[in-house]
Amino acid sequence: MERGIECRRLTVARRTSDGREKLVIDDLSAQFETGQMAVISGATGSGKSTLLHVLAGLLRPVQGEVVFNGEAVSRWVSSHRDRWRRRVGIVFQHDRLLGDLSAVENVLLPLIPRGGGLKECRRSALAALSRLSVDQLADKMVRNLSGGERQRVAIARALVSQPSFLLADEPTAHQDHKSAEEILKTLAAAAAAGAVVVVTAHDPRILEAGATGGRFRLVQGRLKALK
Ligand SMILES: Nc1ncnc2c1ncn2[C@@H]1O[C@H](COP(=O)(O)OP(=O)(O)O)[C@@H](O)[C@H]1O
Ligand SMILES: [Mg+2]
Repeated sequence: MERGIECRRLTVARRTSDGREKLVIDDLSAQFETGQMAVISGATGSGKSTLLHVLAGLLRPVQGEVVFNGEAVSRWVSSHRDRWRRRVGIVFQHDRLLGDLSAVENVLLPLIPRGGGLKECRRSALAALSRLSVDQLADKMVRNLSGGERQRVAIARALVSQPSFLLADEPTAHQDHKSAEEILKTLAAAAAAGAVVVVTAHDPRILEAGATGGRFRLVQGRLKALK
């Protein structure tokens, strides 16, 4: 049985514009459970994106570990780390889609290294776009989409490989109220299907929606549990 992700005394430094190192995450410990959705709020610059990047294996902690099933995945290098990343679906704060490809091409890209035919990949990508109600945009170039549409495509790309860990960085930032609710429902459904889901939100209203895995606030580099 998988036990979710544990952060053990994580410390993460980032370089400020004047060249000094600043601790963004400072001795942070937390547990994110399988089958649940945790929501993290916090002021701009408090380190929400940084924490998600560490969880995804994109950034290394200076100290501490990200532990999955007893293994310190944050210490892994090269091919091991790539294996870890393939289990993670991430929605970046700034979508990081490829503007010169269509929506469906962007979503099927993560499936290609996993094998399977192009037709099958395309079918899965269309199904993921449909879950986000943007299947009608499948063949449009991403550069011609609105911010909110791009964000939905980015969520579809994170979901398409049915990741064990789904990390979403302010996934409702460019959405109206109704779309935001739909997106949160989709993320909660991924948790209910057995993933660990961690969502960040600048908007505290999102904290009220279905945070089965706890509600937290990132303050001075640590996670404070909210009631
Ligand atoms: N790529 C980067 N290089 C250097 N510093 C960064 C980088 N990204 C973020 N930071 C700094 O780390 C701190 C936390 O940023 P971030 O994790 O983006 O916060 P949040 O997502 O909560 O707004 C900020 O002080 C920010 O300036
Ligand atoms: Mg951020």
